[in-house]
Amino acid sequence: MAITEWKNKTIITEFILLGFETSPQFQILLFLVFLSTYIITMAGNILLVVLVVADRHLHRPMYYFLGNLSCLEIFYSSTILLRMLASLITGDKRLSVSGCIVQFYFIASLVCTECYLLSVMSYDRYIAICKPLHYAVLMQDGLCCQLASLSWVSGFLAIAIIIALMLQITFCGPNEIDSFFCDFEPLLSLSCSDIALLKIVALICSFTFSMIPFVLTLISYTYIVITVLKIPSTSGRQKAFSTCSSHLIVVILYYGTLIIVYMIPTSPSLKDMNKIFSLFYTVLTPLINPLIYSFRNKEVKESLQRLLRKYLSIVGKQRATS
Ligand SMILES: *[C@@H]1O[C@H](CO)[C@@H](O)[C@H](O)[C@H]1NC(C)=O
Repeated sequence: MAITEWKNKTIITEFILLGFETSPQFQILLFLVFLSTYIITMAGNILLVVLVVADRHLHRPMYYFLGNLSCLEIFYSSTILLRMLASLITGDKRLSVSGCIVQFYFIASLVCTECYLLSVMSYDRYIAICKPLHYAVLMQDGLCCQLASLSWVSGFLAIAIIIALMLQITFCGPNEIDSFFCDFEPLLSLSCSDIALLKIVALICSFTFSMIPFVLTLISYTYIVITVLKIPSTSGRQKAFSTCSSHLIVVILYYGTLIIVYMIPTSPSLKDMNKIFSLFYTVLTPLINPLIYSFRNKEVKESLQRLLRKYLSIVGKQRATS
């Protein structure tokens, strides 16, 4: 777009996040639904982090990763849901440009981190199931820590580059974003600067942070399934498969919706469908991750029982002394 063209336009400093446009009564219903979702998400994930940190029995790589994943979900759903709840209750849909970019930064970085964490977790399961004798050596505390921190650092660094480019963009409107959070495509479509470089960098980033971990995860699980199918006894097969099946459900749900939302071109008729699918990976995955990943797991359940017993005995003692 020529410079003369955008000079005439007003430069906007505020966006309107349209969210879900419904009748006022339905807004209240939506508020209640998302509020309960947020509370359950926080409770489940915080509980899991507490268990992983506090219980010595869970001080193992697989649980460290689960703890990290729960930490991530806590930030993630706070970034999206708190803003959404506030706008549902106040009816104020405005968001400053910088606020929007900050929200995008956190969401995108956390998505990148999650993709790598999921692939690290699949690698961890691959070693545990396909190379059980080498597990202790290959997954020493050091390596596990490095892999986890690498996921976090690389995600936040990569998106920082995109943000640096984004800060140089002028937005001239219209200023309505038809989504419930600040997403990349809708944001860019409101800009009137040259965004060719930004698009290329974003493409490289999304390839490195979604396709590569996706393929790595796929390879790990393929090997796992092949190994599991070779186990002669039915009960052994079931046991090995029960942990992996829950991991697999999360991976399929997460990547499935990501692919549907971002790979399939959006026509106006599919816009509302797209919003619903975005809800899957922004709201639903953080909610059900702790449920299917962890609370189905025997050791986590035992750890929870130990915590409850400890808590009850402390309460009992306080009652006795007071
Ligand atoms: C995240 O992973 C690191 C390295 O494995 C671990 O030291 C840390 O305790 C984990 N955090 C949580 C909350 O589980």
